[in-house]
Amino acid sequence: HKRKEMAGRKLLVTAGGTIEPLDPVRFIGNRSTGRMGYAIAEEAACRGAEVVLISGPTSLPDPCGVRVVRLETAREMRDAVLQSFSSVDAVIKAAAVADYRPVEVSPHKIKKSDDDLVLHLVRNPDILYELGQKKKHQILVGFAAETCRVEEYARSKLERKNLDFIVANDVSEPDAGFAVETNRIRIFDRNGHATAYPLKSKRELAGIILDHVASIWGN
Ligand code: C5P
Repeated sequence: HKRKEMAGRKLLVTAGGTIEPLDPVRFIGNRSTGRMGYAIAEEAACRGAEVVLISGPTSLPDPCGVRVVRLETAREMRDAVLQSFSSVDAVIKAAAVADYRPVEVSPHKIKKSDDDLVLHLVRNPDILYELGQKKKHQILVGFAAETCRVEEYARSKLERKNLDFIVANDVSEPDAGFAVETNRIRIFDRNGHATAYPLKSKRELAGIILDHVASIWGN
């Protein structure tokens, strides 16, 4: 491992997908497994950082040396992230946060009928956007998982969410993105620079992403 270059730094990492309940037995979710965020949290802890990992439901074990907060919904994640935000030096938002949630959660199991069922969904808060508004000294890193026009969408999120850099990946490729051990990323920064990396393990990419954070800190 790298020397303890992140000793004394505090990092907040989010990972996994949020789930949004419909009733006591059903939810709306996504294909995120949490692997990318867990790899970042683990690597940052190895580099000496104090790491808080805020995670949606995943089957992954807690990484060593990391404080893990497990929750379910986007609104729970927002509350947990905002609680830690002022005391951290960087936020890496690898979570796949649900953009919408059912307008109400049925207290009882929804029964089937012969009719169609229409769901009314409302917007969830955009956590990273809120952090971008509140940001002071913190470095903010976002992810953009796209299926087309990757660069255009990634750059627009970088600007709109006031990020330091964004990690983009094309999730339409079979060997990159959700539920695989590898990823192919591009990093876009505020100076208009783009760096493309070949297919690598998520652990290796975690190191690359943390190298970018460290270079902004100047070490
Ligand atoms: O969903 P979207 O593609 O805009 O996600 C880009 C970045 O914003 C990701 O880093 C994601 O974790 C974050 N995000 C968030 N809150 C949301 C939606 C996305 O923090 N409600």
